[in-house]
Amino acid sequence: MPTDLAPRVRDLVSKLTLEEKASLLSGASTWTTTAIERLGIPSIWLADGPHGLRKAPAPNDVGAGTAVPATCFPTASALACAWSERLTRRVGEAIGREARAQGVDVVLGPGVNLQRSPLGGRNFEYLGEDPLLSGTLAAAFVEGVQSQGVGACVKHFAANEQETERMSCSSEVDERTLRELYLRPFEIAVTRAKPWSVMSAYNRVNGVFASEHPWLLSDVLRGEWGFDGFVVSDWGAVDDRAAGVAAGLHLEMPSSGPLGPGDVVAAVKAGTLAEARLDAVVGELLASVLRAAEARTATPPPAVDPDAHQALAREAAAACLVLLRNEGDALPVDPATPRKVAVIGGFARRPRFQGGGSSQVVPTRTTSAWEALEEIARGGALSLRFAEGTGANDEADATALEEAKRIAAAADVALVFVGLPLSHEIEGLDRTHLRLPPAHDALVEAIASVQPNLVVVVTAGAPVLMPWLGRTRAVLLGGLLGQAGGGAVADVLTGRVAPSGKLASSWPARLEDVPSYLHFPGEAGAVRYGEGVFMGYRGHDALGTAPLFPFGHGLSTTRFEYADLRVSSPVVRDTEGVTVTCRIRNAGTRAGREIVQVYAGDLAARVRRPPRELVAFAEVSLAPGEEREVRFALGRRAFAFWDPALRAFVVEDGEHELAVGASSRDLRLRETIRVEAVAPVRRRFDRHTPLSEWIADPQARAAIEAHAGGLLRAFGLVPGAEAAPLDEARLTLRAMILALPIGKLGRFTRGAFTREQVERLIAQANAPRA
Ligand code: BGC
Repeated sequence: MPTDLAPRVRDLVSKLTLEEKASLLSGASTWTTTAIERLGIPSIWLADGPHGLRKAPAPNDVGAGTAVPATCFPTASALACAWSERLTRRVGEAIGREARAQGVDVVLGPGVNLQRSPLGGRNFEYLGEDPLLSGTLAAAFVEGVQSQGVGACVKHFAANEQETERMSCSSEVDERTLRELYLRPFEIAVTRAKPWSVMSAYNRVNGVFASEHPWLLSDVLRGEWGFDGFVVSDWGAVDDRAAGVAAGLHLEMPSSGPLGPGDVVAAVKAGTLAEARLDAVVGELLASVLRAAEARTATPPPAVDPDAHQALAREAAAACLVLLRNEGDALPVDPATPRKVAVIGGFARRPRFQGGGSSQVVPTRTTSAWEALEEIARGGALSLRFAEGTGANDEADATALEEAKRIAAAADVALVFVGLPLSHEIEGLDRTHLRLPPAHDALVEAIASVQPNLVVVVTAGAPVLMPWLGRTRAVLLGGLLGQAGGGAVADVLTGRVAPSGKLASSWPARLEDVPSYLHFPGEAGAVRYGEGVFMGYRGHDALGTAPLFPFGHGLSTTRFEYADLRVSSPVVRDTEGVTVTCRIRNAGTRAGREIVQVYAGDLAARVRRPPRELVAFAEVSLAPGEEREVRFALGRRAFAFWDPALRAFVVEDGEHELAVGASSRDLRLRETIRVEAVAPVRRRFDRHTPLSEWIADPQARAAIEAHAGGLLRAFGLVPGAEAAPLDEARLTLRAMILALPIGKLGRFTRGAFTREQVERLIAQANAPRA
C-alpha cells in the first residue's frame, strides 16, 4: 500500500464495524464499490475494457449496447501484431483519458491470458501466444492508462484460456508451465507497471477457484511479485466469499446483495475467518480506493478530442495489419496508376471490428474500407466497383456470386473481403473449427477463377484456414481493428502506410497440428494443459510441424537486411546478462518498419525445453537505404527454466543459441554463447535418487565410490576405470543397477547396506562444496 496512506487506512479500519468491513468487500452495484459515508469512504467506478471504454449509463445497467460512446481501438489480438510498446502505451493513454473524462476510476484491462488454442473464443481479447510479448505490451498498456490518473486491471488471473465451462472448469497445469508461460505476462505487467488492480479468473486452477486461491493471490501475486493493489473477482466469479477473503480476494463484483457480506460476517462470527485477516484485506482495498479517489481530484478531468483519438485508432490499426503473402509485389495498389478495382465482400462496407461480449464498445464512429478507398480514389486514378458476393448472413447466393465474378473479371485487381462472423468470436463460446463460412471460401475460389490479380483481406481475431491461399496474389490480415480499421486497411492496400505487423500467434495448417489440440477444451469439468510448455510456436518447433504462417511472420513492401550480430561476450555470467546488437538496413525502395525478434535456445538442457523462445524484440523504422544498429539487453530469465524439483528459475552452465530474425522461422543471424551460472543450482540427493544421477555428480560419486567402488568399477561406472567388455547379461544388469534408487541398496543387499549408511551417503552428497 502507498505508505503515506497507511495511518489513515489503519484509523479507518479501526473505526469500521464488522458489517461495514464485510460490505466494503462486495460491490454496491454492477460497476461501483461500496461507500461508507459516515467515515468519508468513497465509492469508485470500474468499467471495461481492454480496447475502449464501455461505461454503462447507470451503475446497475449491464451496459450491453447501451454504453456511453467511446473510441474503439484495435482489439488486443490485433494490437499485439504491431509489437509496439510505444503504440500500446499511447492507446492506453487514450483509453485512460476517456475513462477519466467519464468519471471511471479503474479500466478492466488489459487481458493477458494466452492464446493457447486458436479455438479460444476470447482470443481476440488477448495479446497473442507468447508470454514475453503479451506481458511487455500489457505493461505498456497499464503505464498508458495509469498515466492519466486511472487504474488498470490486469485480467484474468490465471489459466483462463478457454470459454468452455469457463465458470467452473479446472485448469490442470503443472507449475513449470504456469511459471514459464501462463503466469509470466501477469508477472511482467505487475512487476514493471504496478497496476492498481488484478482480476481473478472464473475458473479453478488445479482444483481451487482462482478467486479463492491463496497460492495465486497471496503467495505469488503479493508475496513474490510485490503487488500492492487490489484483486477484484471476475463478474460473478465468487464461489465461497469467506474463502476468497482468506486467500486475498479484496473485492467481489458485481454486488451479490446481502450474500457476500453476509457470508463474511458469518465466517468471522463462526471463527472460520480470522478478523485480523479480514482487517488486512479491508485495509489493502481501502488503500486502493483512497488512492483512486485522490487521483480523481488531483487534476481536473481532461478534455477528450474524438478526432485525435480517431486518428490514433487509425494509426494503430494500420500498424497492426499483417501482410501474410505478397506474390509479385501485388500490394500496394498505387492510387496514382489508373486501374479498375473490384471490391468484393460485405466486410468492405460493414466492417466487423471487435468481438462480442463484455469488451464490446459502442464506437464514436466507424469507417469502412469501402468509404476510405472511395476517398483515396477521388484524389487519384483508381476506379472502384463493389459487389457483395454472398447473400445475407454469410449464406451462398448464386446471383450475388455471379455479379461479383462479373465485376472482378472486368477489373485489373480484385480485393476480396472475407472473415469470421461475430458468432465465432464471442465471450463465453469457444470455436469448434478453424474454417471460414463456406460461402466466403467459395467466394475467394470463384473470384480466383476469373481474376488472377487477387488480394484477400481477412477479418478475424484468431487463426483461420485458407484452403485457397495458393490461388491468391496477396493476403492481408486485418484482425479486429477497431472503429478506424477500414481507413487503416485502405491506407495499407494503397501504400499510404507500409504494412509492418507480425503475427502474435502461430497460424496452423491444420487444427490437428496445434500443440494443445488433444487437450482443448478438456472434459468432465477439467482441462489438462497436457502440452505443457510446448504451446504455440514452442510446440510447432519442437514437433517440426510446418504452420501455415509461423509466429512472428509478417511481410513488408520494402526489404530489410540483417547483419553484424554481436554479443558483448562469448562467455556470459547469468547474473550479468548479455548485450546483443545487430544492424538492420532498409534495402528496398519504400520506408518501412521492421520488428526484429531475438530468440534463445538452450542447447543442452537437463530438462526438455522448446528449441527457441522469444527473449527480446524491437521495432525499427527506416527510410529507404537507411541503416541502424539495434540493441537488446538480455537478463538471466532469457536463459532460465523453471525447475520443478527446486521450485525456482534455474540457469544451467552451458551453450545457448541466440538467433535474430524476422519471424520465429526466418532467423537471419545466429551466435552461440556460453552461459555460466554464478551460483550453479545443485540438485538435492535423497533416497529416491537413482544411481545414474549419483555417478553423474562428482561429489555424490566420490561418496558412493568409497562404499561400493568395486561394484562401480566392475560395471565401468567410474570414469577412467576401464572395465572388461560387458557380456549381454552384465549389460542388462548394469542398466538395472543404474536405475536403482540409493535407498533400495539395503533391500537388494538384504540389509548388508544399512539405513544409517544410506543416510550418511545422502548427507555427503548434499554437503556444501568447496
Ligand atoms: C468478463 C470480464 C469483464 C467483466 C465485466 C466478465 O464477464 O470476463 O473480462 O471485465 O465481465 O464486464
